[in-house]
Amino acid sequence: MTSTNDIRRSFLDYFGSEGHRVVPSAPLVPHNDPTLMFTNAGMVPFKNVFTGLETRPYSTATSSQKCVRAGGKHNDLDNVGYTARHHTFFEMLGNFSFGDYFKERAIGLAWNLITREWGISADRLTVTVYHTDDEAYDLWRKIAGLPESRIIRIPTSDNFWAMGDTGPCGPCSEIFFDHGDHIPGGPPGSPDEDGDRFVEIWNLVFMQYEQVDKETRVDLPKPSIDTGMGLERIAAVLQGVHDNYDTDTFKALIAASGELTRSDTAGPMKASHRVIADHLRASGFLVADGVLPANEGRGYVLRRIMRRAMRHAHLLGASEPLMYRLVPALVAEMGVAYPELVRAQPLIEETLKLEETRFRQTLANGLRLLDEATGAMKPGDTLPGAVAFKLYDTFGFPYDLTEDALRAQDLAVDRAGFDEAMAEQKRKAREAWKGSGEKASDEIWFDIAEEFGSTEFTGYVSHEGEGQVLAIVKDGARIDSASAGDAVTIVTNQTPFYGESGGQAGDAGTIDNDAGFHAVVGDTSKPLGRLQAHQARIESGTVKVGDAVHLSVDVERRSRLRANHSATHLLHAALRNRLGGHVTQKGSLVAADRLRFDFSHPKAMSPAEIAAVEADVNAHIRANDDVTTRLMTPDEAIAAGAMALFGEKYGEEVRVLSMGQGGDADSSYSVELCGGTHVSALGDIALFKIVSESAVSSGVRRIEALTGEAARQWLTQREDRLKEAAAALKASPEEVPQRVASLIEDRRRLERELAEARKALALGGGGAKSEAAGPEHVNGIAFIGQVIEGLDPKGLRGLVDDAKKRLGSGVAVLVAVNDGRASVAVGVTPDLVASHDAVALVKRAVATLGGQGGGGRPDMAQGGGPDGGQALAAIQDVKAALGGVPAEA
Ligand code: ALA
Repeated sequence: MTSTNDIRRSFLDYFGSEGHRVVPSAPLVPHNDPTLMFTNAGMVPFKNVFTGLETRPYSTATSSQKCVRAGGKHNDLDNVGYTARHHTFFEMLGNFSFGDYFKERAIGLAWNLITREWGISADRLTVTVYHTDDEAYDLWRKIAGLPESRIIRIPTSDNFWAMGDTGPCGPCSEIFFDHGDHIPGGPPGSPDEDGDRFVEIWNLVFMQYEQVDKETRVDLPKPSIDTGMGLERIAAVLQGVHDNYDTDTFKALIAASGELTRSDTAGPMKASHRVIADHLRASGFLVADGVLPANEGRGYVLRRIMRRAMRHAHLLGASEPLMYRLVPALVAEMGVAYPELVRAQPLIEETLKLEETRFRQTLANGLRLLDEATGAMKPGDTLPGAVAFKLYDTFGFPYDLTEDALRAQDLAVDRAGFDEAMAEQKRKAREAWKGSGEKASDEIWFDIAEEFGSTEFTGYVSHEGEGQVLAIVKDGARIDSASAGDAVTIVTNQTPFYGESGGQAGDAGTIDNDAGFHAVVGDTSKPLGRLQAHQARIESGTVKVGDAVHLSVDVERRSRLRANHSATHLLHAALRNRLGGHVTQKGSLVAADRLRFDFSHPKAMSPAEIAAVEADVNAHIRANDDVTTRLMTPDEAIAAGAMALFGEKYGEEVRVLSMGQGGDADSSYSVELCGGTHVSALGDIALFKIVSESAVSSGVRRIEALTGEAARQWLTQREDRLKEAAAALKASPEEVPQRVASLIEDRRRLERELAEARKALALGGGGAKSEAAGPEHVNGIAFIGQVIEGLDPKGLRGLVDDAKKRLGSGVAVLVAVNDGRASVAVGVTPDLVASHDAVALVKRAVATLGGQGGGGRPDMAQGGGPDGGQALAAIQDVKAALGGVPAEA
């Protein structure tokens, strides 16, 4: 028997030896088409090569392409398990000519492979051609020598293949294998063609046109070839079986399912085993290509597939999560052809185990509810939509799971009732939201979210991608199109742009298309926590709702954001390590140019603590460990030691980020719940530098820090300052601290000397703005009055005491003037205090200096005022008070 792996290999080798480039399968999430949920045909990755938009270094290619048909237009999910040939995941073998060969060689190569290389008897083959395609008809006659009765002209769209509403297309020719008259059914085009006897095994598409929009079809630059052969079908043919599920790969997966559940794989539970085998493949490959279970978009399709399989595992009596234990069998069967499966094996197992553990918690209760609701129903009856909605809402049963569960009893589900219940719930949510006092202007986001659901964020794995414009908002209102000069907010169905949340700034970048539309995105926000809204300025062209656009994130800026975000996690862990478990996050800002982290801690950090934290973070950066992300429920995450923010609202699922090696081998240095974007390995942060540590409020400290190039520039600037200082000091940078210390010492000494000199000057007279040196006599009282510029006011008192001593009996007034301000002290010797109160005298001087108050004791009082220019007048005033001269006005 030829194994499926051998058949794949032999197909690729055959076309390889015929000059075709063997191209590895593209990922299941298409990078070049926003309207496509999953890659669903072999030609999808080559779409732009056919239309001439993209060129490759080869003109013919062959591939075995991973495909998923579940969700979206091609949805085979409902039938899987109950038919011989429906799959959610399958492989499409194909050969492609991009303007190289056309019909003749395509037919020749195909015929040669199946009849000569693989030895399928021509008697069992029938082909179809598009009814007007005489050329293909003649070629089949000539090359294959088929009788006219087995070249069937088909007039319907069955023989005109199109990728979708738009894209490359052309007439096609299909090859059918006759499984024999023991199976009911007729040849294609006959009344019983829907029977299972004649099975299409290969579709040769003669790509000639591009459907640009509904009305316009243009010629491709050159006629091309796209073919598609379902590997599972051809394996069935070559292995002599009729049913895809009887081929080697499926048999191995089904056997593993039978073994683990100890259940008969051919008996009444046959469909369950098939569902499990098929869905195991789809789940494994989707997770390997970056899709994780979620409540919207691709993630929800994956969740539906997983949960459908998990219900069947439950039906088989599995009492513990089953699916993850089947992953080794999947990897054994398919890992050689698809190494990404081997690489992702731990993630696939963990994701399946988590999903099944969680789902099992409500599955039994949901099934009980379903049993109660259907207990009295008869075959042909319909389950009320409200029950299906309750199962969905409370027990996590996707709609199609409920349908699948009722299928065996021949019961239907009221879809309209389900939709109505869903709409009612949304209405209630809106009422509750309105009542919560949110801004009325935000209601527009509610409308958009309700109409389209959450934006699918693709930016964890890529920086660019296609998106479809769902809404354009200008000045608070939705518009249909916008053009150059407009400042608008654009919402797309999916985007790699991160909307500001969790402290991380929104992404910037560009949005454009091939028709000349170009917009610059300055910021991205996240209204209602589920839409990513691009704030864009349109520089050229026009964009309309419904347009496909190309979104690219400013990668350089994003990598700085990633580095700053990951560094914040390391900083948090280092602070807890160094300062203690009381440290908790009080706020954080992750901007492109810096990061800020607020945390609870009762006192300022010492320089040694700051240095230690900084060193710890840098040590982890140098260790360059990979950063890992896992999805968990909030409770599981906290149980796993993740640092969660108290009072934060978390969704049903959280991303858990682990970084760095912890204290023991299997622990991580930092484990946090986080929806942000992060480096993949810590070395990408490059460098971490704390630039400030300060108080925010009592008990809360703030650290500001830089990473990477910003940190390097900061250090360089510091060094430049040091060099400037060294140059000014005429010293080397190394000598700067010691030189500065000695300068400070010199200055202190000079200040001391200056103070002494001033004092001597004040007491000895001369130079100062004073009356004549030595005491004068005012109304018979010895009097000293002096203004001393630049004297430290603290010295005033001592000088007045000295003056009093010198006078023996008398009054001294000294005014120190500094930067225009005056301080004044008045001293009265004890023998005179009865008649002259220093406090009263100083008050007069203070008033003249433009100040208020002044006080002290009767023998010594002080005060001050802003009018230093009035210093002499103030002295005159005091003199006047002693009765010597009349006071000036
Ligand atoms: N693109 C063609 C198909 O999917 C071959 O059938």
